[in-house]
Order: sequence, then structure tokens, then C-alpha cells
Amino acid sequence: MNKKTALITGIGGQDGSYLAEFLLKKNYKIVGIERRSGERSNWRLKKLAIFDKVIMEDSDIKEIGNLIRIFKKYQFNEVYNLAAQSFVKSSFDNPIETYQVNAIGTLNLLEIIRTQNRNTKFYQASTSEMFGEHGKKIQNESTNFHPRSPYASAKAFAHHTVQNYREAFKIFAVSGILFNHESPLRGEEFITRKISLGLTKIKCGKQKVLKLGNIYAKRDWGYAKDYIEAMWKMLQIKSPEDFVIASGKMFSVKDFINKCIKILKIKTLWTGKGLNEKLIDFEKNKPIIIIDKKFFRPSEVNSLKGDSTKAKKILKWYPKTNLDELAKIMINSDLERVNKNQY
Ligand code: NAP
Ligand code: GDD
Repeated sequence: MNKKTALITGIGGQDGSYLAEFLLKKNYKIVGIERRSGERSNWRLKKLAIFDKVIMEDSDIKEIGNLIRIFKKYQFNEVYNLAAQSFVKSSFDNPIETYQVNAIGTLNLLEIIRTQNRNTKFYQASTSEMFGEHGKKIQNESTNFHPRSPYASAKAFAHHTVQNYREAFKIFAVSGILFNHESPLRGEEFITRKISLGLTKIKCGKQKVLKLGNIYAKRDWGYAKDYIEAMWKMLQIKSPEDFVIASGKMFSVKDFINKCIKILKIKTLWTGKGLNEKLIDFEKNKPIIIIDKKFFRPSEVNSLKGDSTKAKKILKWYPKTNLDELAKIMINSDLERVNKNQY
């Protein structure tokens, strides 16, 4: 049988790198697109030792002309659209860029599939952020969207567009509504990595204090490597459908901090309230976590907890790694990097 060819947009990101690794093991030919930017280290692909096993094409997802050329060149069987301005906080400062990438970028890809080859299967990286102010204890595929950021509303546009292209043009296009997923390859601006790396540096004497925003926000966190498999499974079923992918467990940012502190064996005590809340290292009698208004968002998503019953039933997909295990994986990796000064 001929090798399948897949395009991964956002291949240099956390999910893109793990997905490339996963699909290479399944004998796919992988083409990734990356932007011509100042720093093109592709450190994640290099860390996974797969940088020389994938074909890289230069393109911004906003550049439809260039994308058309790339689609003509390879005739993809599957397209995984993971490219995004993915940091929610940044989307409040850069809303237009966020819409151009997350919303119009997705439309560009779907238009190429519609006009060039409707047999190409399409995966869209949708997000639990679309649920926003949901008013439900747990969210599934039928929960209404109430986006709370430019990031989330741009993603909701993309999500509805995927649905429409599926219904109107019979394209095999699906959205995975993924809840937060983390790993040692997570960007340092996201909360779990900011905490695991920050506290590891503090433990090793390389940082004094960590400044955070709303530590009472609650999320449903899973391990990125577990979630990648679900993306692929969604493109292997008979008829295209959307799926929620989540752990079904919810913790606060403060819970995650407490788990990391325990793993790192730092003796601490929480004191104060609101903006004055602090985590004190009581052996050194110094604060190691303080609250900084700068990290609060203009509108917050207070809680997210996903119900992936449908994915379990149809895709036979199950989360494998709990938050305690995930925190250990991240801290162990950060300890290694901090000890080698590789951060
Ligand atoms: P990530 O690490 O931030 O990766 C995003 C990738 O997109 C980066 O490689 C980035 O390249 C690329 N990109 C950004 N703008 C681009 C553009 N204009 N043209 C081409 N490439 C561009 O994000 P991730 O955590 O892997 O997430 C992957 C996808 O899943 C994203 O769409 C995200 O919104 C979505 N998602 C993530 C989660 C999660 O918890 N991780 C949950 C739900 C949905 P640069 O390095 O050049 O910036
Ligand atoms: N990043 C960050 N930094 N977040 C903080 C901080 C801080 O200093 N302090 C508190 N938080 C809170 C945020 O306000 C938010 O409620 C929560 O921690 C998680 O923030 P992030 O890790 O930045 O992730 P996110 O939930 O906003 O978005 C991530 O998950 C989405 C899926 O639900 C991203 O990966 C999105 O791309 C993804 O769609």
C-alpha cells in the first residue's frame, strides 16, 4: 500500500511535534509548514529526533497562494490544522492577527480542499475555550459556546466553518474539541509549564520568585501525547463527526502548584488573600509565588471540565495519564534542563 501523506500546520508547536512523531511511527510521509520567522530552531522536532524525518515547507497559514502551491505539490490524504496564535492572553492584545490566523487561516485550508481535492480529510484543532462562560458542570459536544476571548471566538468561527464545509460540500472535515493538554514540550508562557519550570528553577537556586495571575481558575488538564492519538483516530472513522477530548477531572491552578511543590519537596505555606496571596518558602522565610495583576485576563474562563463519553464510545479513546503523573513528567524534564542550563 502507498504511504499516506499528511500535512501538519503548526508542526513546530507542542502538538504538531508529537503528532509528527506519532504519524511517522505509522509510516506516514509528513509535510509540515512553518513560518519564516527570526527564530526557527524547531527545538521540539529536534528534541524528539525527528527534524530530519519530516519535509518542511515555508508558509504562513494566512498565505493562501503559497498554500495552494504546497497542496498541488503533495496531494495530501490528511491535513491536521494545528497552526494558531494559541495563547489566549495574547489574543486580547492582538485580536486581528488572532482572527486572521485562527479563523481565516482555517478557511484558507478548507477552500483549497473544496476547490482542489475534496477527498482530502481535514482535522481542525478546536478548543474547550469556545465553551467559555458555559454555565454547565461538565461540557460535551452539545454544550453551547460562549467565547470569552478573541482567541476563543476566532476558534468558534473556524469550528462552525468546518461544520458547514462538511455539510455543504461533503468534505471529511472534523473538529476535535480538546481540553487543555500539557507536556515537557509546552510553551513556557502557559501556566503548567510556567509553574513547573519556575518552581524547578527556584528549587535549583536559579530564580527567586514566580509571578502569577488568577490561581483559582480551574482546568481539565491532560497529557498532550495521549491526546494526539485522538486526532488521528478522528480521521480514521467512517463518517466525520466532532469529538470532545478531555480527562474529565478538574483542578485549580493552585492545586497544580501544590502538586509541583510536593514533587520538588519544597516546604511552603500559603498566606494572605486576593492580590496579597503568597506562597512562602518557610525554610528561607521568603515568598516564592506572588500574585501580579498583569497576568489576569480582561475576561476569564473560570472553569472547564470535559465529558468525552462520545470519544470513548466511538473512537475507543481514553486518557491514560493523570495530573499527578503529568506534573512528575514535566518536573523531571525541567530538572534535567535546568541542571544542564538548557532552558
Ligand atoms: P503551540 O505550541 O502554540 O503551536 C502552534 C503552532 O502554530 C506553532 O508552531 C506556531 O509557529 C504555529 N503558527 C502560529 N501562527 C502561524 C501562522 N500564521 N502560520 C503558520 N504557523 C503558525 O500550540 P499547541 O499547544 O501545540 O496547540 C496546537 C493547536 O491546538 C492550536 O491550534 C491550539 O489553538 C489548539 N489547542 C491547543 C490546546 C492545548 O491545550 N495545547 C487545547 C485545545 C486546542 P511559530 O513557532 O512560528 O509561532
Ligand atoms: N498563562 C498563564 N500565566 N495563565 C495563568 C497565569 C499566568 O501567570 N496565572 C493564572 N493563569 C490562569 C489563566 O488565567 C487561565 O485561567 C489558566 O491559568 C490557564 O491558562 P493557560 O495555561 O494560558 O491556558 P488557557 O486555558 O488559557 O488556554 C490553553 O488551553 C486552551 C484549551 O482550553 C491554550 O493551550 C489554548 O490554546 C487552548 O485552546
